[in-house]
Amino acid sequence: MTVMTGHSATSGKASIFRIAGTMRVTMAVVLVAVFAISASAQDAATPAGAPADVFPQPDRPVADIISPIWHDENERDKAGEPQQLVGLLGIKPAMTVADIGAGSGYYVVRLSPIVGASGRVIAEDVVPEYLEDLRRRVRDLGLANVGIVRGEAHDPKLPVQSLDLAILVHMYHEIAQPYALLYNLVPALKPGARIGIVDAFAPTAQHGTPPDLLRCELQAVGYRQISLDRLAGSDAYLAIFAPPTVANRTPPGAIVPCKAQ
Ligand SMILES: C[S@@+](CC[C@H](N)C(=O)[O-])C[C@H]1O[C@@H](n2cnc3c(N)ncnc32)[C@H](O)[C@@H]1O
Repeated sequence: MTVMTGHSATSGKASIFRIAGTMRVTMAVVLVAVFAISASAQDAATPAGAPADVFPQPDRPVADIISPIWHDENERDKAGEPQQLVGLLGIKPAMTVADIGAGSGYYVVRLSPIVGASGRVIAEDVVPEYLEDLRRRVRDLGLANVGIVRGEAHDPKLPVQSLDLAILVHMYHEIAQPYALLYNLVPALKPGARIGIVDAFAPTAQHGTPPDLLRCELQAVGYRQISLDRLAGSDAYLAIFAPPTVANRTPPGAIVPCKAQ
C-alpha cells in the first residue's frame, strides 16, 4: 500500500488542481467552439431577411400584443380547434411545422406528438418572456422535437427551406410589419409548403382580420389563397395560402398596402 507523505500529498493535490485547471480550460475551449459552430451553422441556415424599413407599413391599425394565449385551452379543446386545423391543413407525422406567434404554446404541445419523432415543431415568437415560459413548458413535457426561435416583427428568422407548413394562429392582426414578415418567411418554406392563418372575423383593432383584408395583404406579397373555412365553435376562420417562390415575391418597393374596408 502506498502511503503519501506530506510532500507527495501536496504535489499530488497540485497535480490534481493542474489537471482540473487543464480540464476547465479544455471544457471552456470546447464550449466556445460548440457555440461558434452552432452560431455559424444558425447564420448559414438563417440569413437575415430584408430590413424592415424597405417595406410599407400596413394601412390599417395593428393590435397591441397583450397575451401569449388567445383563449382558455380547455375551451379550445372542447371546440375541437386543433383537430379542425390538423384536418384542413393535412398535418401528418414527419412534417416540420412553424408556429409563428406561438405564445404559451397551445399548438406547440398539441402538434408535437402529431408530427412525431421524425417531424419538428418550430415555435417562434417576438416576446422573450413568452419564449422563456414556453421553453420551460417544452422542457417539462420532454418534447424533444420542438425548437424555439426568437424572431422580429419583420423577420421570423426561420431556417431556409425547412418548413412544410407555417401556422399563424390568432396573431396576424398583431404583426407590426406584415408585408416584411410575409416576404421574409418565403425562403423558409419548402416547395409545396402552405401557410395557415387563423383569425377572428373582426377588424384588426379588435384582434381579428377581415378575410378580404387578409387576402389582399397576402396577395400584395405574392401569396395565393387556396381556401377559407369558418371554424366550428368560434368566431374564427382558417385561411390557407400557397406562397410565391423566392424569385416571384413582390419586391418590397413594389408592395402596395391594402386598405381596411
Ligand atoms: C394572442 S397570442 C396567440 C398565441 C397562440 N398562437 C395561440 O393561438 O394561443 C399572439 C402571439 O403572437 C405573438 N406575436 C405578435 N406579433 C408577432 C410577430 N410579428 N411575430 C411573431 N409573433 C408575434 C405575440 O407575442 C403573442 O405571443
